Amino acid sequence: MENLKFIANKLYILDQTLLPNEEKWVEIQNKEQAYTAIKTLMVRGAPAIGIFAGYSMALFSKNKDIYELKKYLDSSRPTAVNLSWATKRIVNAFENGKSLIEEAVEIHNEDIKMCRKISEYGLSLLKDGDGILTHCNAGELATSKYGTGLGPLILGKEKGYNFHVFSDETRPLLQGARLTSYELEKAGIDVTLICDNMASLVMKKGMINAVLVGCDRVAANGDTANKIGTSGVAVLAKYYNIPFYVLGPYSTIDFSCKTGDDIEIEERSGEEIKQMYFEKPTALKNTKCFNPAFDVTDNSLITAIITDKGIIYPPFDVNLKKILND
Ligand code: MRU
Repeated sequence: MENLKFIANKLYILDQTLLPNEEKWVEIQNKEQAYTAIKTLMVRGAPAIGIFAGYSMALFSKNKDIYELKKYLDSSRPTAVNLSWATKRIVNAFENGKSLIEEAVEIHNEDIKMCRKISEYGLSLLKDGDGILTHCNAGELATSKYGTGLGPLILGKEKGYNFHVFSDETRPLLQGARLTSYELEKAGIDVTLICDNMASLVMKKGMINAVLVGCDRVAANGDTANKIGTSGVAVLAKYYNIPFYVLGPYSTIDFSCKTGDDIEIEERSGEEIKQMYFEKPTALKNTKCFNPAFDVTDNSLITAIITDKGIIYPPFDVNLKKILND
């Protein structure tokens, strides 16, 4: 399932805010539209944001204003490292006199290969018939192909595996309900939607063999920033002795963050909690809200971090560096 098309030098995205009710492709024609598309989650998911930002930088920068454009796009969403990583790649191409479009296409193609590898490593840890819990959306809509957190499931389906997936709805923006259940149903994968507060019950009932989630940034000690609510799922998985796997490309590891405390967490409007997906507001206009878009999962709760370079087990501070040097 595609979320972005680059055809004849024009950039189109599938507007993910309208899913699953409407599949609408929108052409992005300038930097302001690119910024808004990221900010409002028309395009979302860490790798997809990086790919989109790469094309946007290549199309909308005019020579030296590329540095300003990088800052502008980077400021749209701070938590996922992929955004600033991709815009830096385009700046480097500019400084080295390379074609910016070719670099953007390369970022895109590399992501396809990385997601395939992540999916293969992830699938090697699962068995046919497993029950899987996932949170948010880390599939093809959030990446280039296959996905990270959902990649092993989509690849597994291609290879004839049958998984039973439970998708947390993922309050407040409902990526699990709107995107994951839609995407997995389209892929022919058995998926059951649950509210976030039902995860404990399905684990307790023995319906879950593994938890798979995507990630937005990994600190040097293995703490990971994931969609808000993920750390609670990790605590539950630990309690019920269920493996908790975090999946993402190696470029998601940010050694400049020593621990998860160094990762900037995006805060979004309280309207998303009180109003956005309801016919009527669910709280008074003045009711205060706190709406962090991500939380940090402590490395002690993570069974393994699955990257395109391999499966990394604890101790993460040692093994994350080791795989870099391999
Ligand atoms: O706020 P979103 O929808 O961009 O958040 C997406 C996630 O948290 C994904 O699970 C994440 O980017 C993992 S990588 C596919």
